Amino acid sequence: MNHRPIPAERLPELLRRMPKAELHMHIEGSLEPDMIFSMGQRNQVPLNYPSVDALRQAYVFNNLQEFLDIYHAGTTVLKTEQDFYDMTCAYLARAQADNVLHTEIFFDTQTHTGHGLSAEVVINGLHRACMDAPAKFGMTASLILCFLRHLSEEEAFECLEQALLLRDKIVGIGLASSEVGHPPEKFAKVFARARELGFRLVAHAGEEAPPAYIWSALDVLKVERIDHGVQAIHDAALMRRLAEEKIPLTVCPLSNLKLQVFKNLSQHNLGRMLDAGIVATINSDDPAYFGGYINENFTQTFAALGLTSQHAYTLARNSFEASFLEASAKARLIERLDGVFASLE
Ligand code: HPA
Ligand code: ZN
Repeated sequence: MNHRPIPAERLPELLRRMPKAELHMHIEGSLEPDMIFSMGQRNQVPLNYPSVDALRQAYVFNNLQEFLDIYHAGTTVLKTEQDFYDMTCAYLARAQADNVLHTEIFFDTQTHTGHGLSAEVVINGLHRACMDAPAKFGMTASLILCFLRHLSEEEAFECLEQALLLRDKIVGIGLASSEVGHPPEKFAKVFARARELGFRLVAHAGEEAPPAYIWSALDVLKVERIDHGVQAIHDAALMRRLAEEKIPLTVCPLSNLKLQVFKNLSQHNLGRMLDAGIVATINSDDPAYFGGYINENFTQTFAALGLTSQHAYTLARNSFEASFLEASAKARLIERLDGVFASLE
């Protein structure tokens, strides 16, 4: 929608205030160091770091795998359904403060079943927080189960089987963890099964791995959105396809910066993606590890790339359009977004 352009100094406030959806956020990556310590104490899980500050100072990564190793260590403190509920409520409170009106939360059951927990404990805790989200945090929340791609397809099938007991609590299936060497094709059969079962499908692709991974996420897994997808920039035919077929990308700029996908934010290709007509969105990925929640991603990226209020509107609108909400809910949220932009003077 057209609106009066606003001066650059008022842009950060608009970015914070505008309604938005978050579509790429791993709930285990929202576990802040102080919560890791308090849950560790509550559950008597020893940690390899002497203090909250020492843990935070360890958050320096050269690539995705270095991050995944430390992220995994953080997840060991989660033991009970209440832990999963509390972690999710803490994220929802932060998201509400950033004017997130809808969020689709990633989680990896396999991380926790690998620590001896049941899938029920995990999913019931997360889901109870999602059910409380409208009353407690003025927003809606749903769950997307990500298979861990460094594990086998057989293990992903087992994970899907366990989740089927709680089918109605999960909206979609995704694919996360170590990307290079674990291409989408490895999960062709289990994604086909998830599709038959009526799950919405997404996959991380083209975060570190080449455009071929994005092609096969689309053509083999038949996903509806691509998580990250920034490597598409190296393939003109793929860029055209993403734009023509309106396949959303859930881009996570501060994650890309922290994991050294881009050396600095001013080199990020989000602006070029938008210029190419791609339905890109901004998200926080693992906010406790990557230096900020969604609004921090917006404000830093806009400052680095010189994006405008028109880009802000497009990104927020894309976030609602690309969500798995039904059409009437999307329309209501877009109306609220339009209200904010219409009132700009
Ligand atoms: N990439 C892949 N897997 C992940 C990520 C990520 O950024 N965060 C949590 N799991
Ligand atoms: Zn991710």
